[in-house]
Amino acid sequence: MITEEQIEEIKKKSNIVEVISSYIPLNKKGRNYFGLCPFHDDHSPSMSVSPEKGIYTCFVCGATGNAISFVMNYENLNYVEALKVLGDKCGVNLNVNNYRKKDNYDEFYNIYELTNKFYQNNLNTVNGHDAREYLKNRGITDNIIREFNVGLALGFDKSVTKLLIQKGYKEKDLVDIGISNKTDYGYQDLFINRIMFPLWNLDGKIVGYSGRIYNQEDTAKYINTKETVIFKKGLNLYNYHRAKNEVRMSGSVIIMEGFMDVIRAYSIDIKNAVATMGTALTVENANLIKKMSNNVILCFDGDKAGKKATYACGNELVKIGVNPKVVILESNLDPDEYIIKFGAKKFKEKINNCISFLDFKLNYLKEGKNLNNNEDLTEYINGVIKEVKTIDDEILRELTLKKIANEINISVETLMGKLWKEIENDNKEIEQSIDDGFVDMVPPKEVPYIPKEVKKHRISTPSTTDKYTKAERKVLYYMLHDKELTYKYEKVFPYLPTKIYRFLASEIMYFVKKYDTISISDFLNYMKDKQELVDLVGEILNFDYNKDYTEEEITDYFKVLREYNFKSEVDRLSVELKHETDLEKQIELANKIMNLKKGVEDNGSN
Ligand code: CTP
Ligand code: MN
Repeated sequence: MITEEQIEEIKKKSNIVEVISSYIPLNKKGRNYFGLCPFHDDHSPSMSVSPEKGIYTCFVCGATGNAISFVMNYENLNYVEALKVLGDKCGVNLNVNNYRKKDNYDEFYNIYELTNKFYQNNLNTVNGHDAREYLKNRGITDNIIREFNVGLALGFDKSVTKLLIQKGYKEKDLVDIGISNKTDYGYQDLFINRIMFPLWNLDGKIVGYSGRIYNQEDTAKYINTKETVIFKKGLNLYNYHRAKNEVRMSGSVIIMEGFMDVIRAYSIDIKNAVATMGTALTVENANLIKKMSNNVILCFDGDKAGKKATYACGNELVKIGVNPKVVILESNLDPDEYIIKFGAKKFKEKINNCISFLDFKLNYLKEGKNLNNNEDLTEYINGVIKEVKTIDDEILRELTLKKIANEINISVETLMGKLWKEIENDNKEIEQSIDDGFVDMVPPKEVPYIPKEVKKHRISTPSTTDKYTKAERKVLYYMLHDKELTYKYEKVFPYLPTKIYRFLASEIMYFVKKYDTISISDFLNYMKDKQELVDLVGEILNFDYNKDYTEEEITDYFKVLREYNFKSEVDRLSVELKHETDLEKQIELANKIMNLKKGVEDNGSN
């Protein structure tokens, strides 16, 4: 456990200038320090660091925070992990169990390091001749071999198992972590006669291998290390530890299917690529990718399987709010083959001209269909409508339909008509299910339940922020700047309609009551690992409203919000009333509604 005292000590001892300059060079100018901002592709020093205020700020991309948030963002760590890093730097020893950087597997990492040295050495021996030839023929240069620690497993009399046992490591451990095998003849190497590509964990430690055949055919192309205590495939991405800073600088991350593709891309200076470990994209992978960047480019193999994987992977990403872009490679090629065949320049052009996931899906729908055939055409149009329905933006929706209409020689009005009809049907269905009581009604003081689908598909829904959301944001914004408003909020208005906003408000209230002050950097610290709320604070601060507010303004916002709460309560009770069969209870409900309505009027009139 970490104590408040320890956090205070770390904060006191961590000098922001020292901390940041351990990552990037800083120069003093006047009272502040300046450096290239690591959070965007910076060309002149835009990040200033204020030792007095203990914060950094980038004038270009708006990144801002204190020493802890810098470490969090730079190293992609959560609050506790960042504290641990800072604690290590300034001599405050935190005993954190689930800390990623320190587990009890140091010995296993050492074993892998040793193994890798052994394999690398093999490649340079006489026995490595064929493997070296293979790599050379594939255009894998000595530089790449060195950078990616490529090695060679020979087995038999060149057994790494034998060496490790000699060094005193336990046989059982070697089996458990996927290096050795127990056979009738004793412990032997698991990988024999394969070119060894190390796999790293997120911290850059070797935790497994993918071993490729190079001079035999009748066996699996790759053998991969099994899942072990230190190797969790679904949590890992190949090349993550190298790519993460490159992703920050370039502003995007490229996802590929095979690690050979990533290595090839690296060799032509595309260093922001990662690959899954030969598995489908897991939820954890998706979230990790999202954490790296919101700008995701899927560059899978150009064959049928690759497109299918693009479709599946894209949908996973969309689920968590990432709208990826897509590169489609012609002639069924994978990125590695494409680069070899068409060269770096052409490949980079491809990356720069990636298409939207929507365009990809529309093309994908067409695949294998003969649009002169009515059945295929209908299936295609239905698929298109289904995709277009999910587009939030009205203009984009219309433009997309126009494009499709031109392409298949059908009037855009026909397609629009079909879309509207579908939307109407969906809405009817949803409204029906509300009437039938199939949709849960919300407890008191919650916003009335408006199914997302309804909201999304009502073409008339304005895309701009409604007055309620705006009022909520403004109130929070001023609460973050002025403790008095927080006190006032607590007295007059205990609820914000939107759940996450309400959570933030209650955190602010708690903080202000405890410390009788509000400072954004301290507040962010206090929120520790509530990443969602930390992000929300950033979002709200980004609105950059006028710093000063008038009493009237605030009274107005409160009024708007109160009105909303009353209205939702009335809506909720009305539904209840409609379904109530007991006369007594009906009267009770009707009274409640009347009183509430009166409240709205009173509220509005004073
Ligand atoms: N893979 C695997 N076992 C196989 C084939 C593939 O584990 N027998 C995994 C590997 O992680 C590989 C990824 O799936 O990186 C993509 O497979 P594939 O496209 O077949 O590999 P390539 O990257 O094209 O490999 P190469 O060019 O060496 O043939
Ligand atoms: Mn390949």
